[in-house]
Amino acid sequence: METHKPHVLLIDDERATIELMGAVLGTQGFQVTLCHTAREACHLLDTLRFDAVVTDVVFEGRAEGADLLARCREAQPDAVVVLMTGYPAVDAAVSAIKSGATDYLQKPVDPIVLGAMVHKSLRERQLDVGRGRLAFSEMVDIVSGMVANTIERVDPYTAGHGERTRRYCRILGERFGLEQHTLERLELGAIAHDYGKIYLDDLGFLTKQGPLTPEEYREVQRHPELGARMLGDHPHLEDVCKYVAEHHEKWDGSGYPRRLREDEISLPGRILGVVEVFDSLSTKRSYKDVWELPKTLQFFEAQRGRAFDPRVLDEFLALLEVHGEEWIAAPQRDLEAAGVRPPG
Ligand SMILES: [Fe+2]
Repeated sequence: METHKPHVLLIDDERATIELMGAVLGTQGFQVTLCHTAREACHLLDTLRFDAVVTDVVFEGRAEGADLLARCREAQPDAVVVLMTGYPAVDAAVSAIKSGATDYLQKPVDPIVLGAMVHKSLRERQLDVGRGRLAFSEMVDIVSGMVANTIERVDPYTAGHGERTRRYCRILGERFGLEQHTLERLELGAIAHDYGKIYLDDLGFLTKQGPLTPEEYREVQRHPELGARMLGDHPHLEDVCKYVAEHHEKWDGSGYPRRLREDEISLPGRILGVVEVFDSLSTKRSYKDVWELPKTLQFFEAQRGRAFDPRVLDEFLALLEVHGEEWIAAPQRDLEAAGVRPPG
């Protein structure tokens, strides 16, 4: 099973220093992103999710660290933040903690000590969660698990489909520079995209052997709008419902339920549409085998500008060059892990 490596953003304008620190943190079980300017750091904080942020307080002689810290607290409220400072220890401790950092280290920083400090802070944060303090991202994880389990109960062959779709949507969304709050809503939409299926009048044909009749197909086509409606009307869910409702719309206007086309479909909706089809094609169903990667790529190419937005498709194909073989095999692995026997 894939284990989650804590993602650390390391910010300092001294390139050689952070490259060395990054390499050492890499050996300590962290995934590390390096960044040399406050501007680049702000962009990363808005677009990616980090478990920890380690930053210098001074960039190129200007004290940009304080602004960066405020930005960090806003964009990544759950992250552990460690400041690196050249100032005398006591002053630095007071100002760092006052300004919301989890901890601080005086320069020159020993990467081994830094790694141990970040691991310890992350463990303590986990304990806080255990004591009842839930971060928003953890709540999303918990609720997502519940929704995914509910959908998979009526269609066990989709085990892991929601979670995989969520993961790939986030990666693809990050490539488009979507903001954090949009990414979170896209992830929720990805998990819940087939939620409407559990409200269909007849659930039997979801696992039916063989193709659907035209009547059954019409019934299944109700699920995007049903899902969007049944998710509720909480203001935070407005965009989530939109993406769920859009996930079977197509770029050329031939999708359902509203036959939206091109920019009438939101960008997250178009991202979800591409990703969801990929994961469905790589899943064995009662009426079809798993598609191998070359056949899937051929299908996507043929659908450029038809089912899919060419821009979204190109970014996704670039991801498949790296992850294609792993992602195409993932549904079978998840079905086996869930103890579900593939149909047929
Ligand atoms: Fe669907």
